[in-house]
Amino acid sequence: MAKKKKRKPIRIQEAFRTVTSRGNRVVQREYEIRQNGEHIGLLNYASDLQRGGGTGLNDEFKDHFKKTDAGINFIKTARGHRNKGIGTKLLKKAERVAKKEKKNRILLEVSPDKKKNISFYKKHGYTPIDTTKRKEKWILMEKRL
Ligand SMILES: CC(C)(COP(=O)(O)OP(=O)(O)OC[C@H]1O[C@@H](n2cnc3c(N)ncnc32)[C@H](O)[C@@H]1OP(=O)(O)O)[C@@H](O)C(=O)NCCC(=O)NCCS
Repeated sequence: MAKKKKRKPIRIQEAFRTVTSRGNRVVQREYEIRQNGEHIGLLNYASDLQRGGGTGLNDEFKDHFKKTDAGINFIKTARGHRNKGIGTKLLKKAERVAKKEKKNRILLEVSPDKKKNISFYKKHGYTPIDTTKRKEKWILMEKRL
């Protein structure tokens, strides 16, 4: 019988970095995934969109921001490590943190050209709610928690 290949464990490093703070408030945090010392994924999570947290989101979407919203400014899996569940792990991390902070929605934006990213987010329960009016198009997506 063929031997089953053992998968290397994926470990999230919980040692997050504070990216921006207003006064004493932490408004952005970064979470990194490392596998055996190698950087393979990064999430920038925003906890206070109305007070400077959502720097990764377009200015045109500001009217959507509520106190009870969290945001994802940035999510990236390193090349060579995609399609192995890292992005899903980062999304789930953001959702866990948001729930802990009693947020009831997560917002993120995506380019309409990135069809694969859009389907990735849709698969995880995010739905488009707005589009920028400017020439450079962005789609705002939300997930109710
Ligand atoms: C978008 C992005 C973060 C997704 O990251 P990822 O690590 O590839 O995500 P996942 O592996 O969790 O999911 C991707 C696909 O792999 C599949 N998958 C999930 N777990 C898997 C596993 N264990 N083994 C194989 N495939 C898996 C998923 O079903 C998903 O399929 P889909 O394309 O049908 O949705 C990544 O493509 C990326 O970094 N892109 C460049 C940066 C970027 O565009 N960021 C987003 C800005 S909006």
